[in-house]
Amino acid sequence: MKFYLLTICILGSAIQMSAAGFVYKDKNASIQSRVQDLLLRMTLQEKIMQLNQYYYGNDGNDNNLIEYRHKIPPTIGSLYFVGNVQERNRLQRMAMEESRLGIPILFGYDIIHGYRTNFQIGLGQACSWNPALVENMYHFMARETRRSGVDWVFTPMIDVARDARWGRISEGYGEDPYVQGVMGSAAVRGLQGSSLATDSTVASCLKHYVGYGASEAGRDYFYTEISHQTLWDTYLPPYKACIDAGATAVMSAFNNISGVPATCNNYTLREVLRQQLGFRGLVISDWDAVPQLKNMGYCDNDRTAAAACLNAGVDMEMVSATYMKHMAELIERGQVSMDILDESVSRVLELKFRLGLFEQPYTREDYVPIYLTEDMMQCASELAAQSAVLLKNEHTLPLVNQKKIAVVGPLAKNARSLIGNWAGYGRDEDVDVLYNGIVQEFSTTSEVRYAEGCGLESQHDADPKRGWSAITDTIAHEVEALAEAVSLAQWSDVVVVCLGEKAGWSGENCSRSSIALPRCQEQLVEAVKQTGKPVVIVLSNGRPIELCRIEPMADAIISIWQPGVNGASALAGILSGRINPSGKLAVTFPYTTGQEPIYYNRRKASRGGHQGRYQDVTSQPLYPFGHGLSYTQYSYSNEKIEKNADGWEVSVEVSNMGLVAGDEVVLWYISDPYSTITRPERELRHFERIHLAPGERRLCRFHINPMRDLAFTDDKGQPILEQGVFRVLVADKTLELKL
Ligand code: NOJ
Repeated sequence: MKFYLLTICILGSAIQMSAAGFVYKDKNASIQSRVQDLLLRMTLQEKIMQLNQYYYGNDGNDNNLIEYRHKIPPTIGSLYFVGNVQERNRLQRMAMEESRLGIPILFGYDIIHGYRTNFQIGLGQACSWNPALVENMYHFMARETRRSGVDWVFTPMIDVARDARWGRISEGYGEDPYVQGVMGSAAVRGLQGSSLATDSTVASCLKHYVGYGASEAGRDYFYTEISHQTLWDTYLPPYKACIDAGATAVMSAFNNISGVPATCNNYTLREVLRQQLGFRGLVISDWDAVPQLKNMGYCDNDRTAAAACLNAGVDMEMVSATYMKHMAELIERGQVSMDILDESVSRVLELKFRLGLFEQPYTREDYVPIYLTEDMMQCASELAAQSAVLLKNEHTLPLVNQKKIAVVGPLAKNARSLIGNWAGYGRDEDVDVLYNGIVQEFSTTSEVRYAEGCGLESQHDADPKRGWSAITDTIAHEVEALAEAVSLAQWSDVVVVCLGEKAGWSGENCSRSSIALPRCQEQLVEAVKQTGKPVVIVLSNGRPIELCRIEPMADAIISIWQPGVNGASALAGILSGRINPSGKLAVTFPYTTGQEPIYYNRRKASRGGHQGRYQDVTSQPLYPFGHGLSYTQYSYSNEKIEKNADGWEVSVEVSNMGLVAGDEVVLWYISDPYSTITRPERELRHFERIHLAPGERRLCRFHINPMRDLAFTDDKGQPILEQGVFRVLVADKTLELKL
């Protein structure tokens, strides 16, 4: 025994000695000591290089306007990577073998809702109200991404968005801070798993910090006017939730927050993010955002911009290289301290250690197919089914007795639009188009025929400057296409009109002054409606759509968002009744664009009734937050509230009163009628998705923790819990409690 112990001691000290000079290379040493050891060995130049992300490979994104670099220094910290596994390994080999210290490169990329296997977009995911399924989706996405050579994704986007003119509303989880936090946390867990050092997990990046969704008039990159109160109660809660869920990185936003740009905002980045929210991970700027401080009139040159950003706590600069050019001089002049620099470098190194890049810098080149696999396709289909929202149904769906189905509209055979924006390496040929799904679904019961009817937009709208003869040709062609759709409608028992948005109409830099469909799409609905046949509108959309003119003509409307590669069979299943729709809106559909921004949880107004209303249109939205129909009916009864040791237990029985099984999403809201800082009419605090067979009843509960659910925050982030009456709302039930 003694001999055994002695051997262990000798061996132990030998390992320590062999690792003594190179603690950072010792995989058994703690990450903290590895970072410290490496930092001590680095020259100033090597440190500065770690804070740069270069653009490698052109991703064809019009917004990523910058020269990409073919010559990559072996000491570069990170690459915005557009490439393949072999190229990654070649570049990584260069970093490992040609740089003095062999520090691996961190490969990051915009994988937003899929690498090649594209899933539902963020806004659609939120309408599923199924965080477990969303987590699973991100797990599949992470697996494909990491095995394709990318370690870090710029996902999830958790910007609360309340103006549907803003194109980026498609990327996040809607208008409610709580939903953003729950879904964002699910994304973080799915992407990161329990360890980053695996071949199936990636580092996540929360974006865009902070308040980017408040862009004035829905214009992208625009000014945002955000009081500290609104910052704390609306825009920060999702970040808090996702940081608590373990997110590894944060991206600063492009917007100017009430005078100080988000990219160098000391208050939001240092005081709030680091000190109050306790974030310990890496902060990266957005694309080229550091030199853009000049455009905003905040800095007069790149050097001061670099100093402002690093001093505010932006550790890494995305692509623009002002850190690389000016940091040495800034340190020399004392405008950035060595401590601040070291802190940022440490965060970059720590992430690389956590990802296991020092041990496994290369990606295996022999993975069997990692995209469009059966489990991924299944997940894409489930998510598409659960996120589709049945907005209207006048006894039309499901289609059970219709022998002749006319499928018309520009979205019926369009693959690209179904995978939406930021589609990674998605390909049109991977996507099952809606028409195919419908044909397959009804193959034994009905005849399905197709006519396009119109394009996504009229050629004239797309290019109004064309000559007169081109315009008359187009008009003739468009009239013919419309006539074909009308005659098909006349033949049919029901017309399914597939309308919506092009992939490029939502996403970054895709604001719209009107969120209505182009006129030609509305005309198609008018034309087929005149045949007297029932009209089902299927919408594929990256934002809420203004439907006020066509809604009265539709017998049913269903929004499928941009469901990705496997949305067609889900839609077809809903049309046939094989799937009972269960999605609910995580964002308000306005009646007209002029109502934007419109959201359910706005603060209360000083006058109600007929005052403060629009003179020209209703003041109500067309479809409110939480709206979504089903083929069955649920009833809520026996609501109860009970006090217990740490709060209240509220419960309600939910019953399926219809003849088909279904999933119901139970939404619990809190209302605080009077408070020293005014609050919205109601605020979502909890939700649950349940499955009920016909006739089945389920007890649903919400445990109210007063600090979490009844308190509100002041403009410094301090929680305030006030005494008095609170209401708890669920479906048509209201309960009261007194604190
Ligand atoms: C700008 C976008 O705002 C951000 O979301 C994205 O991750 C970067 N560009 C990189 O493409």
